[in-house]
Amino acid sequence: MTDITDRKADHINLALQSEHQSQAISTFDSIRFEHNALPEVALNDIDISTQFLNQNISAPIMIGAMTGGCDKGDIINRHLAEAAEACNIPMAVGSQRAALEHNQTQAIRQHAPNTVILGNIGATQIQQQGIDLAQRAVEAISANALVIHINPLQELVQQGGDRDWKQVLEAIYQCADKLTVPIIVKEVGAGISPRNAQKLQQAGIKWIEVAGRGGTNWASIELARNQLSQEKSIAAPFIDWGMDTAPLLPAINKACPKLNLIGSGGVRHGLDVARCIRLGASISALAQPFLAPSLESTEAVIEKITVLREQLRWAMFLTGSANLETLQKAPLQT
Ligand SMILES: Cc1cc2nc3c(=O)[nH]c(=O)nc-3n(C[C@H](O)[C@H](O)[C@H](O)COP(=O)(O)O)c2cc1C
Repeated sequence: MTDITDRKADHINLALQSEHQSQAISTFDSIRFEHNALPEVALNDIDISTQFLNQNISAPIMIGAMTGGCDKGDIINRHLAEAAEACNIPMAVGSQRAALEHNQTQAIRQHAPNTVILGNIGATQIQQQGIDLAQRAVEAISANALVIHINPLQELVQQGGDRDWKQVLEAIYQCADKLTVPIIVKEVGAGISPRNAQKLQQAGIKWIEVAGRGGTNWASIELARNQLSQEKSIAAPFIDWGMDTAPLLPAINKACPKLNLIGSGGVRHGLDVARCIRLGASISALAQPFLAPSLESTEAVIEKITVLREQLRWAMFLTGSANLETLQKAPLQT
């Protein structure tokens, strides 16, 4: 195994452990819809379908980026891709760096010929290797869009992580300027501030995946992997660093009303998806909640998607929202 494949296998094992999930109370839970005791809609008539990147999808729910590039990666990706295809929801693949560096074939499209598939590569890798890498990531899986991840906290805590971020915004700008597919910039659990969002918008980015604090804690995962005691002591106070997803969504929306938002980071059920939509996201992404089902089977992932969609429908029923447009304006408790 190479360093990257070793790291990816560790990530999967550690991400499954509850101690590496945020220990803070979810700020999603502070977002309470006004209960509608007179919904005036039928549950079966509620329409949760929407459009994403000009394609119809069955629900505003996306399988968030999780890694390939290790022994379990292929099977995880196959189960996720087959379920995404069967349910017609988008799937974001994990970092394609290892596969591209080793010239491995990436079989995602074979399992999901029609649904929206997003590629994934780190901004620092593009900074180091140029936008050809980004173009290859897109072509390798015929991606509908490319997700560029920005993860400075994770890189700091990771032993040997990238610490030179000087040209990262320039690399993102180059991708937005030259690539033929849309670019989505995402964090991995520390959030993207409204100030960052403005800079990204100026760089030509139209989509942001917030990936705020509240779910998988990457500082905690990398701290558990780091063997150097001095680096561990430096990192310790930063274990809880980051901005929560729920307050970030309306804040970015206010600063950049034209940006399209994906709500993610600590989304744990369909009620959280409804909250993301109400707070200004077009669609919501969950990563860790799909990990255990993806290790099991395609059917287990489909079951998870079915539950999420039904929970979203219930939230819409209980707010009297016949469609997602109405849900966006559903009254909240003050
Ligand atoms: C096992 C695992 C691997 C991940 N690998 C990647 C990755 O390769 N690229 C990326 O952009 N995000 C990656 N993420 C981060 C997620 O996409 C997501 O932003 C983050 O985990 C927060 O969402 P969550 O709380 O729903 O897990 C990974 C997450 C998990 C759980």
